[in-house]
Amino acid sequence: MEKKENNLDEFRYIQLLESGRWYIQMMNKYRCAIMEVETKLNVLNSEFSLQYDRNPFESIKSRLKSPGSILEKLSRKHLEFNEDSLDRTIEENLYDVAGIRVVCAFQEDIYTLSDLLLRQDDIRLIRTKDYIQNPKPNGYRSLHQILEVPVFLKEGKIPVKVEVQFRTIAMDFWASVDHKLRYKKDVENEKEIIEKLRVCAETIASLDAEMQRIRSMIEA
Ligand code: GTP
Ligand code: MG
Repeated sequence: MEKKENNLDEFRYIQLLESGRWYIQMMNKYRCAIMEVETKLNVLNSEFSLQYDRNPFESIKSRLKSPGSILEKLSRKHLEFNEDSLDRTIEENLYDVAGIRVVCAFQEDIYTLSDLLLRQDDIRLIRTKDYIQNPKPNGYRSLHQILEVPVFLKEGKIPVKVEVQFRTIAMDFWASVDHKLRYKKDVENEKEIIEKLRVCAETIASLDAEMQRIRSMIEA
């Protein structure tokens, strides 16, 4: 019974988000922040390809968090809110409404790109989680940074938070397979799969290091 009420509640809030003008405006702000950071990354890529004849990243993907995942995360974090405080609760507590994933061929380029981005005087670093230097116990690797970037709207300059995840192609491959496991319920041999994935993550880390060494040899 309690579960049913929760579901109804969640449904009501999803409707509230989808129909709210403030929500559309809030999401627009996050969308603009993604454009700002993506442009900065594209500018760096273009400069690099002119100067060194190589691209520091292979691809950029971005996404806005859906109403369902916003509400799921608020409740997972036990954040209290009501209809009037929902916008503030989201802005103050969720740092990954706007998400950008930057996939690089080489691990070294991850840190080069991140440094160049952080050196820009309109970017503020809010938080770094370096799961490359400190991988998660399951083997997950990526560099996560929460940045704040100014967005210029009619009402003036507003700082907006964006989560940027930097990974190598190999780390991205691993994460996409791991992601499939996370969203599949009642998987047979789950323990065995988790262990195999952990071992694969180690293999991938040595592969990334070796590819990096080969590139240095070619470029020397
Ligand atoms: P979330 O509530 O999941 O956003 O976690 P968090 O806010 O504590 O942030 P964290 O930086 O640890 O992870 C955020 C995001 O990184 C997730 O939404 C995933 O996109 C990715 N991520 C983190 N851990 C894993 C993992 O073990 N496997 C995969 N595939 N992705 C992960
Ligand atoms: Mg997230």
